[in-house]
Amino acid sequence: EAVEFGLDAPFEVEYHDTIPSTNDRARELADEGREDVVVLADEQTGGRGRLDRAWTAPSGGIWLSILLRPTVPPADAPAFTLAAAVATTRAAREAGVDAAIKWPNDVLVADGDGGQRKLTGILTEMEGEADRVSWVVVGIGINANVDAADLVDGATSLRAENGDVNRRVFTQRVLEEFHELRSNLDSVVPAWRDLADTLGRRVRVDTPGGEVVGEAVDIEFPGTLVVETDDGTVRVSAGDCEHLRPV
Ligand code: BTN
Repeated sequence: EAVEFGLDAPFEVEYHDTIPSTNDRARELADEGREDVVVLADEQTGGRGRLDRAWTAPSGGIWLSILLRPTVPPADAPAFTLAAAVATTRAAREAGVDAAIKWPNDVLVADGDGGQRKLTGILTEMEGEADRVSWVVVGIGINANVDAADLVDGATSLRAENGDVNRRVFTQRVLEEFHELRSNLDSVVPAWRDLADTLGRRVRVDTPGGEVVGEAVDIEFPGTLVVETDDGTVRVSAGDCEHLRPV
């Protein structure tokens, strides 16, 4: 099924059966001065994840990158990443998969054994001046109609959770939701709160400034996590977050 067929998206769509990375392609389009384009692929051969990790992206998934030129300062850009997590989580729930968000943007599903498996990863890249974003590429990797065995350890897929989805319908829902949210950035944080799994949990966040351990109590625009630690309240704007078991 060609995923782009009949896709009625609020973006221009460029579809590839196979491509190294939709984020790389979207960055090329950014260099060409384009905007409001989504690059979609059935398979990626050089998918990229956060922190320079590789991202496994076999045929059957939903691998896409959205190129935007928002009129916001670079400091607001994390809100687009949160919006992508919200959009994907809503679409997953509509498809019968009980997904929730781990700060800032991993979409997870409980494994029934106290642990969680990753359904979606998001990689946002941008370029800009001090006061104004030039472009943002929001890359969303959704493990859709793929076997979990073909993914890395700790990952799950829509197929493994609740059976295959219609990728055209699912992708369209994600893009519609994302478009709504990016058109009203103030709505992103409240929507994120409703779908979050992190809030109320004990977390360990590996940040550029060191490790923060405590209870995640809230999130603030554009995506700052508020953690109550033994030494008081700490606000974290970036880092790798791990959910800890309650003590
Ligand atoms: C992560 O959790 O580490 C982020 C993974 C992001 C993967 C997506 S798939 C579509 C887009 N193209 C890429 O090369 N990466 C992102």
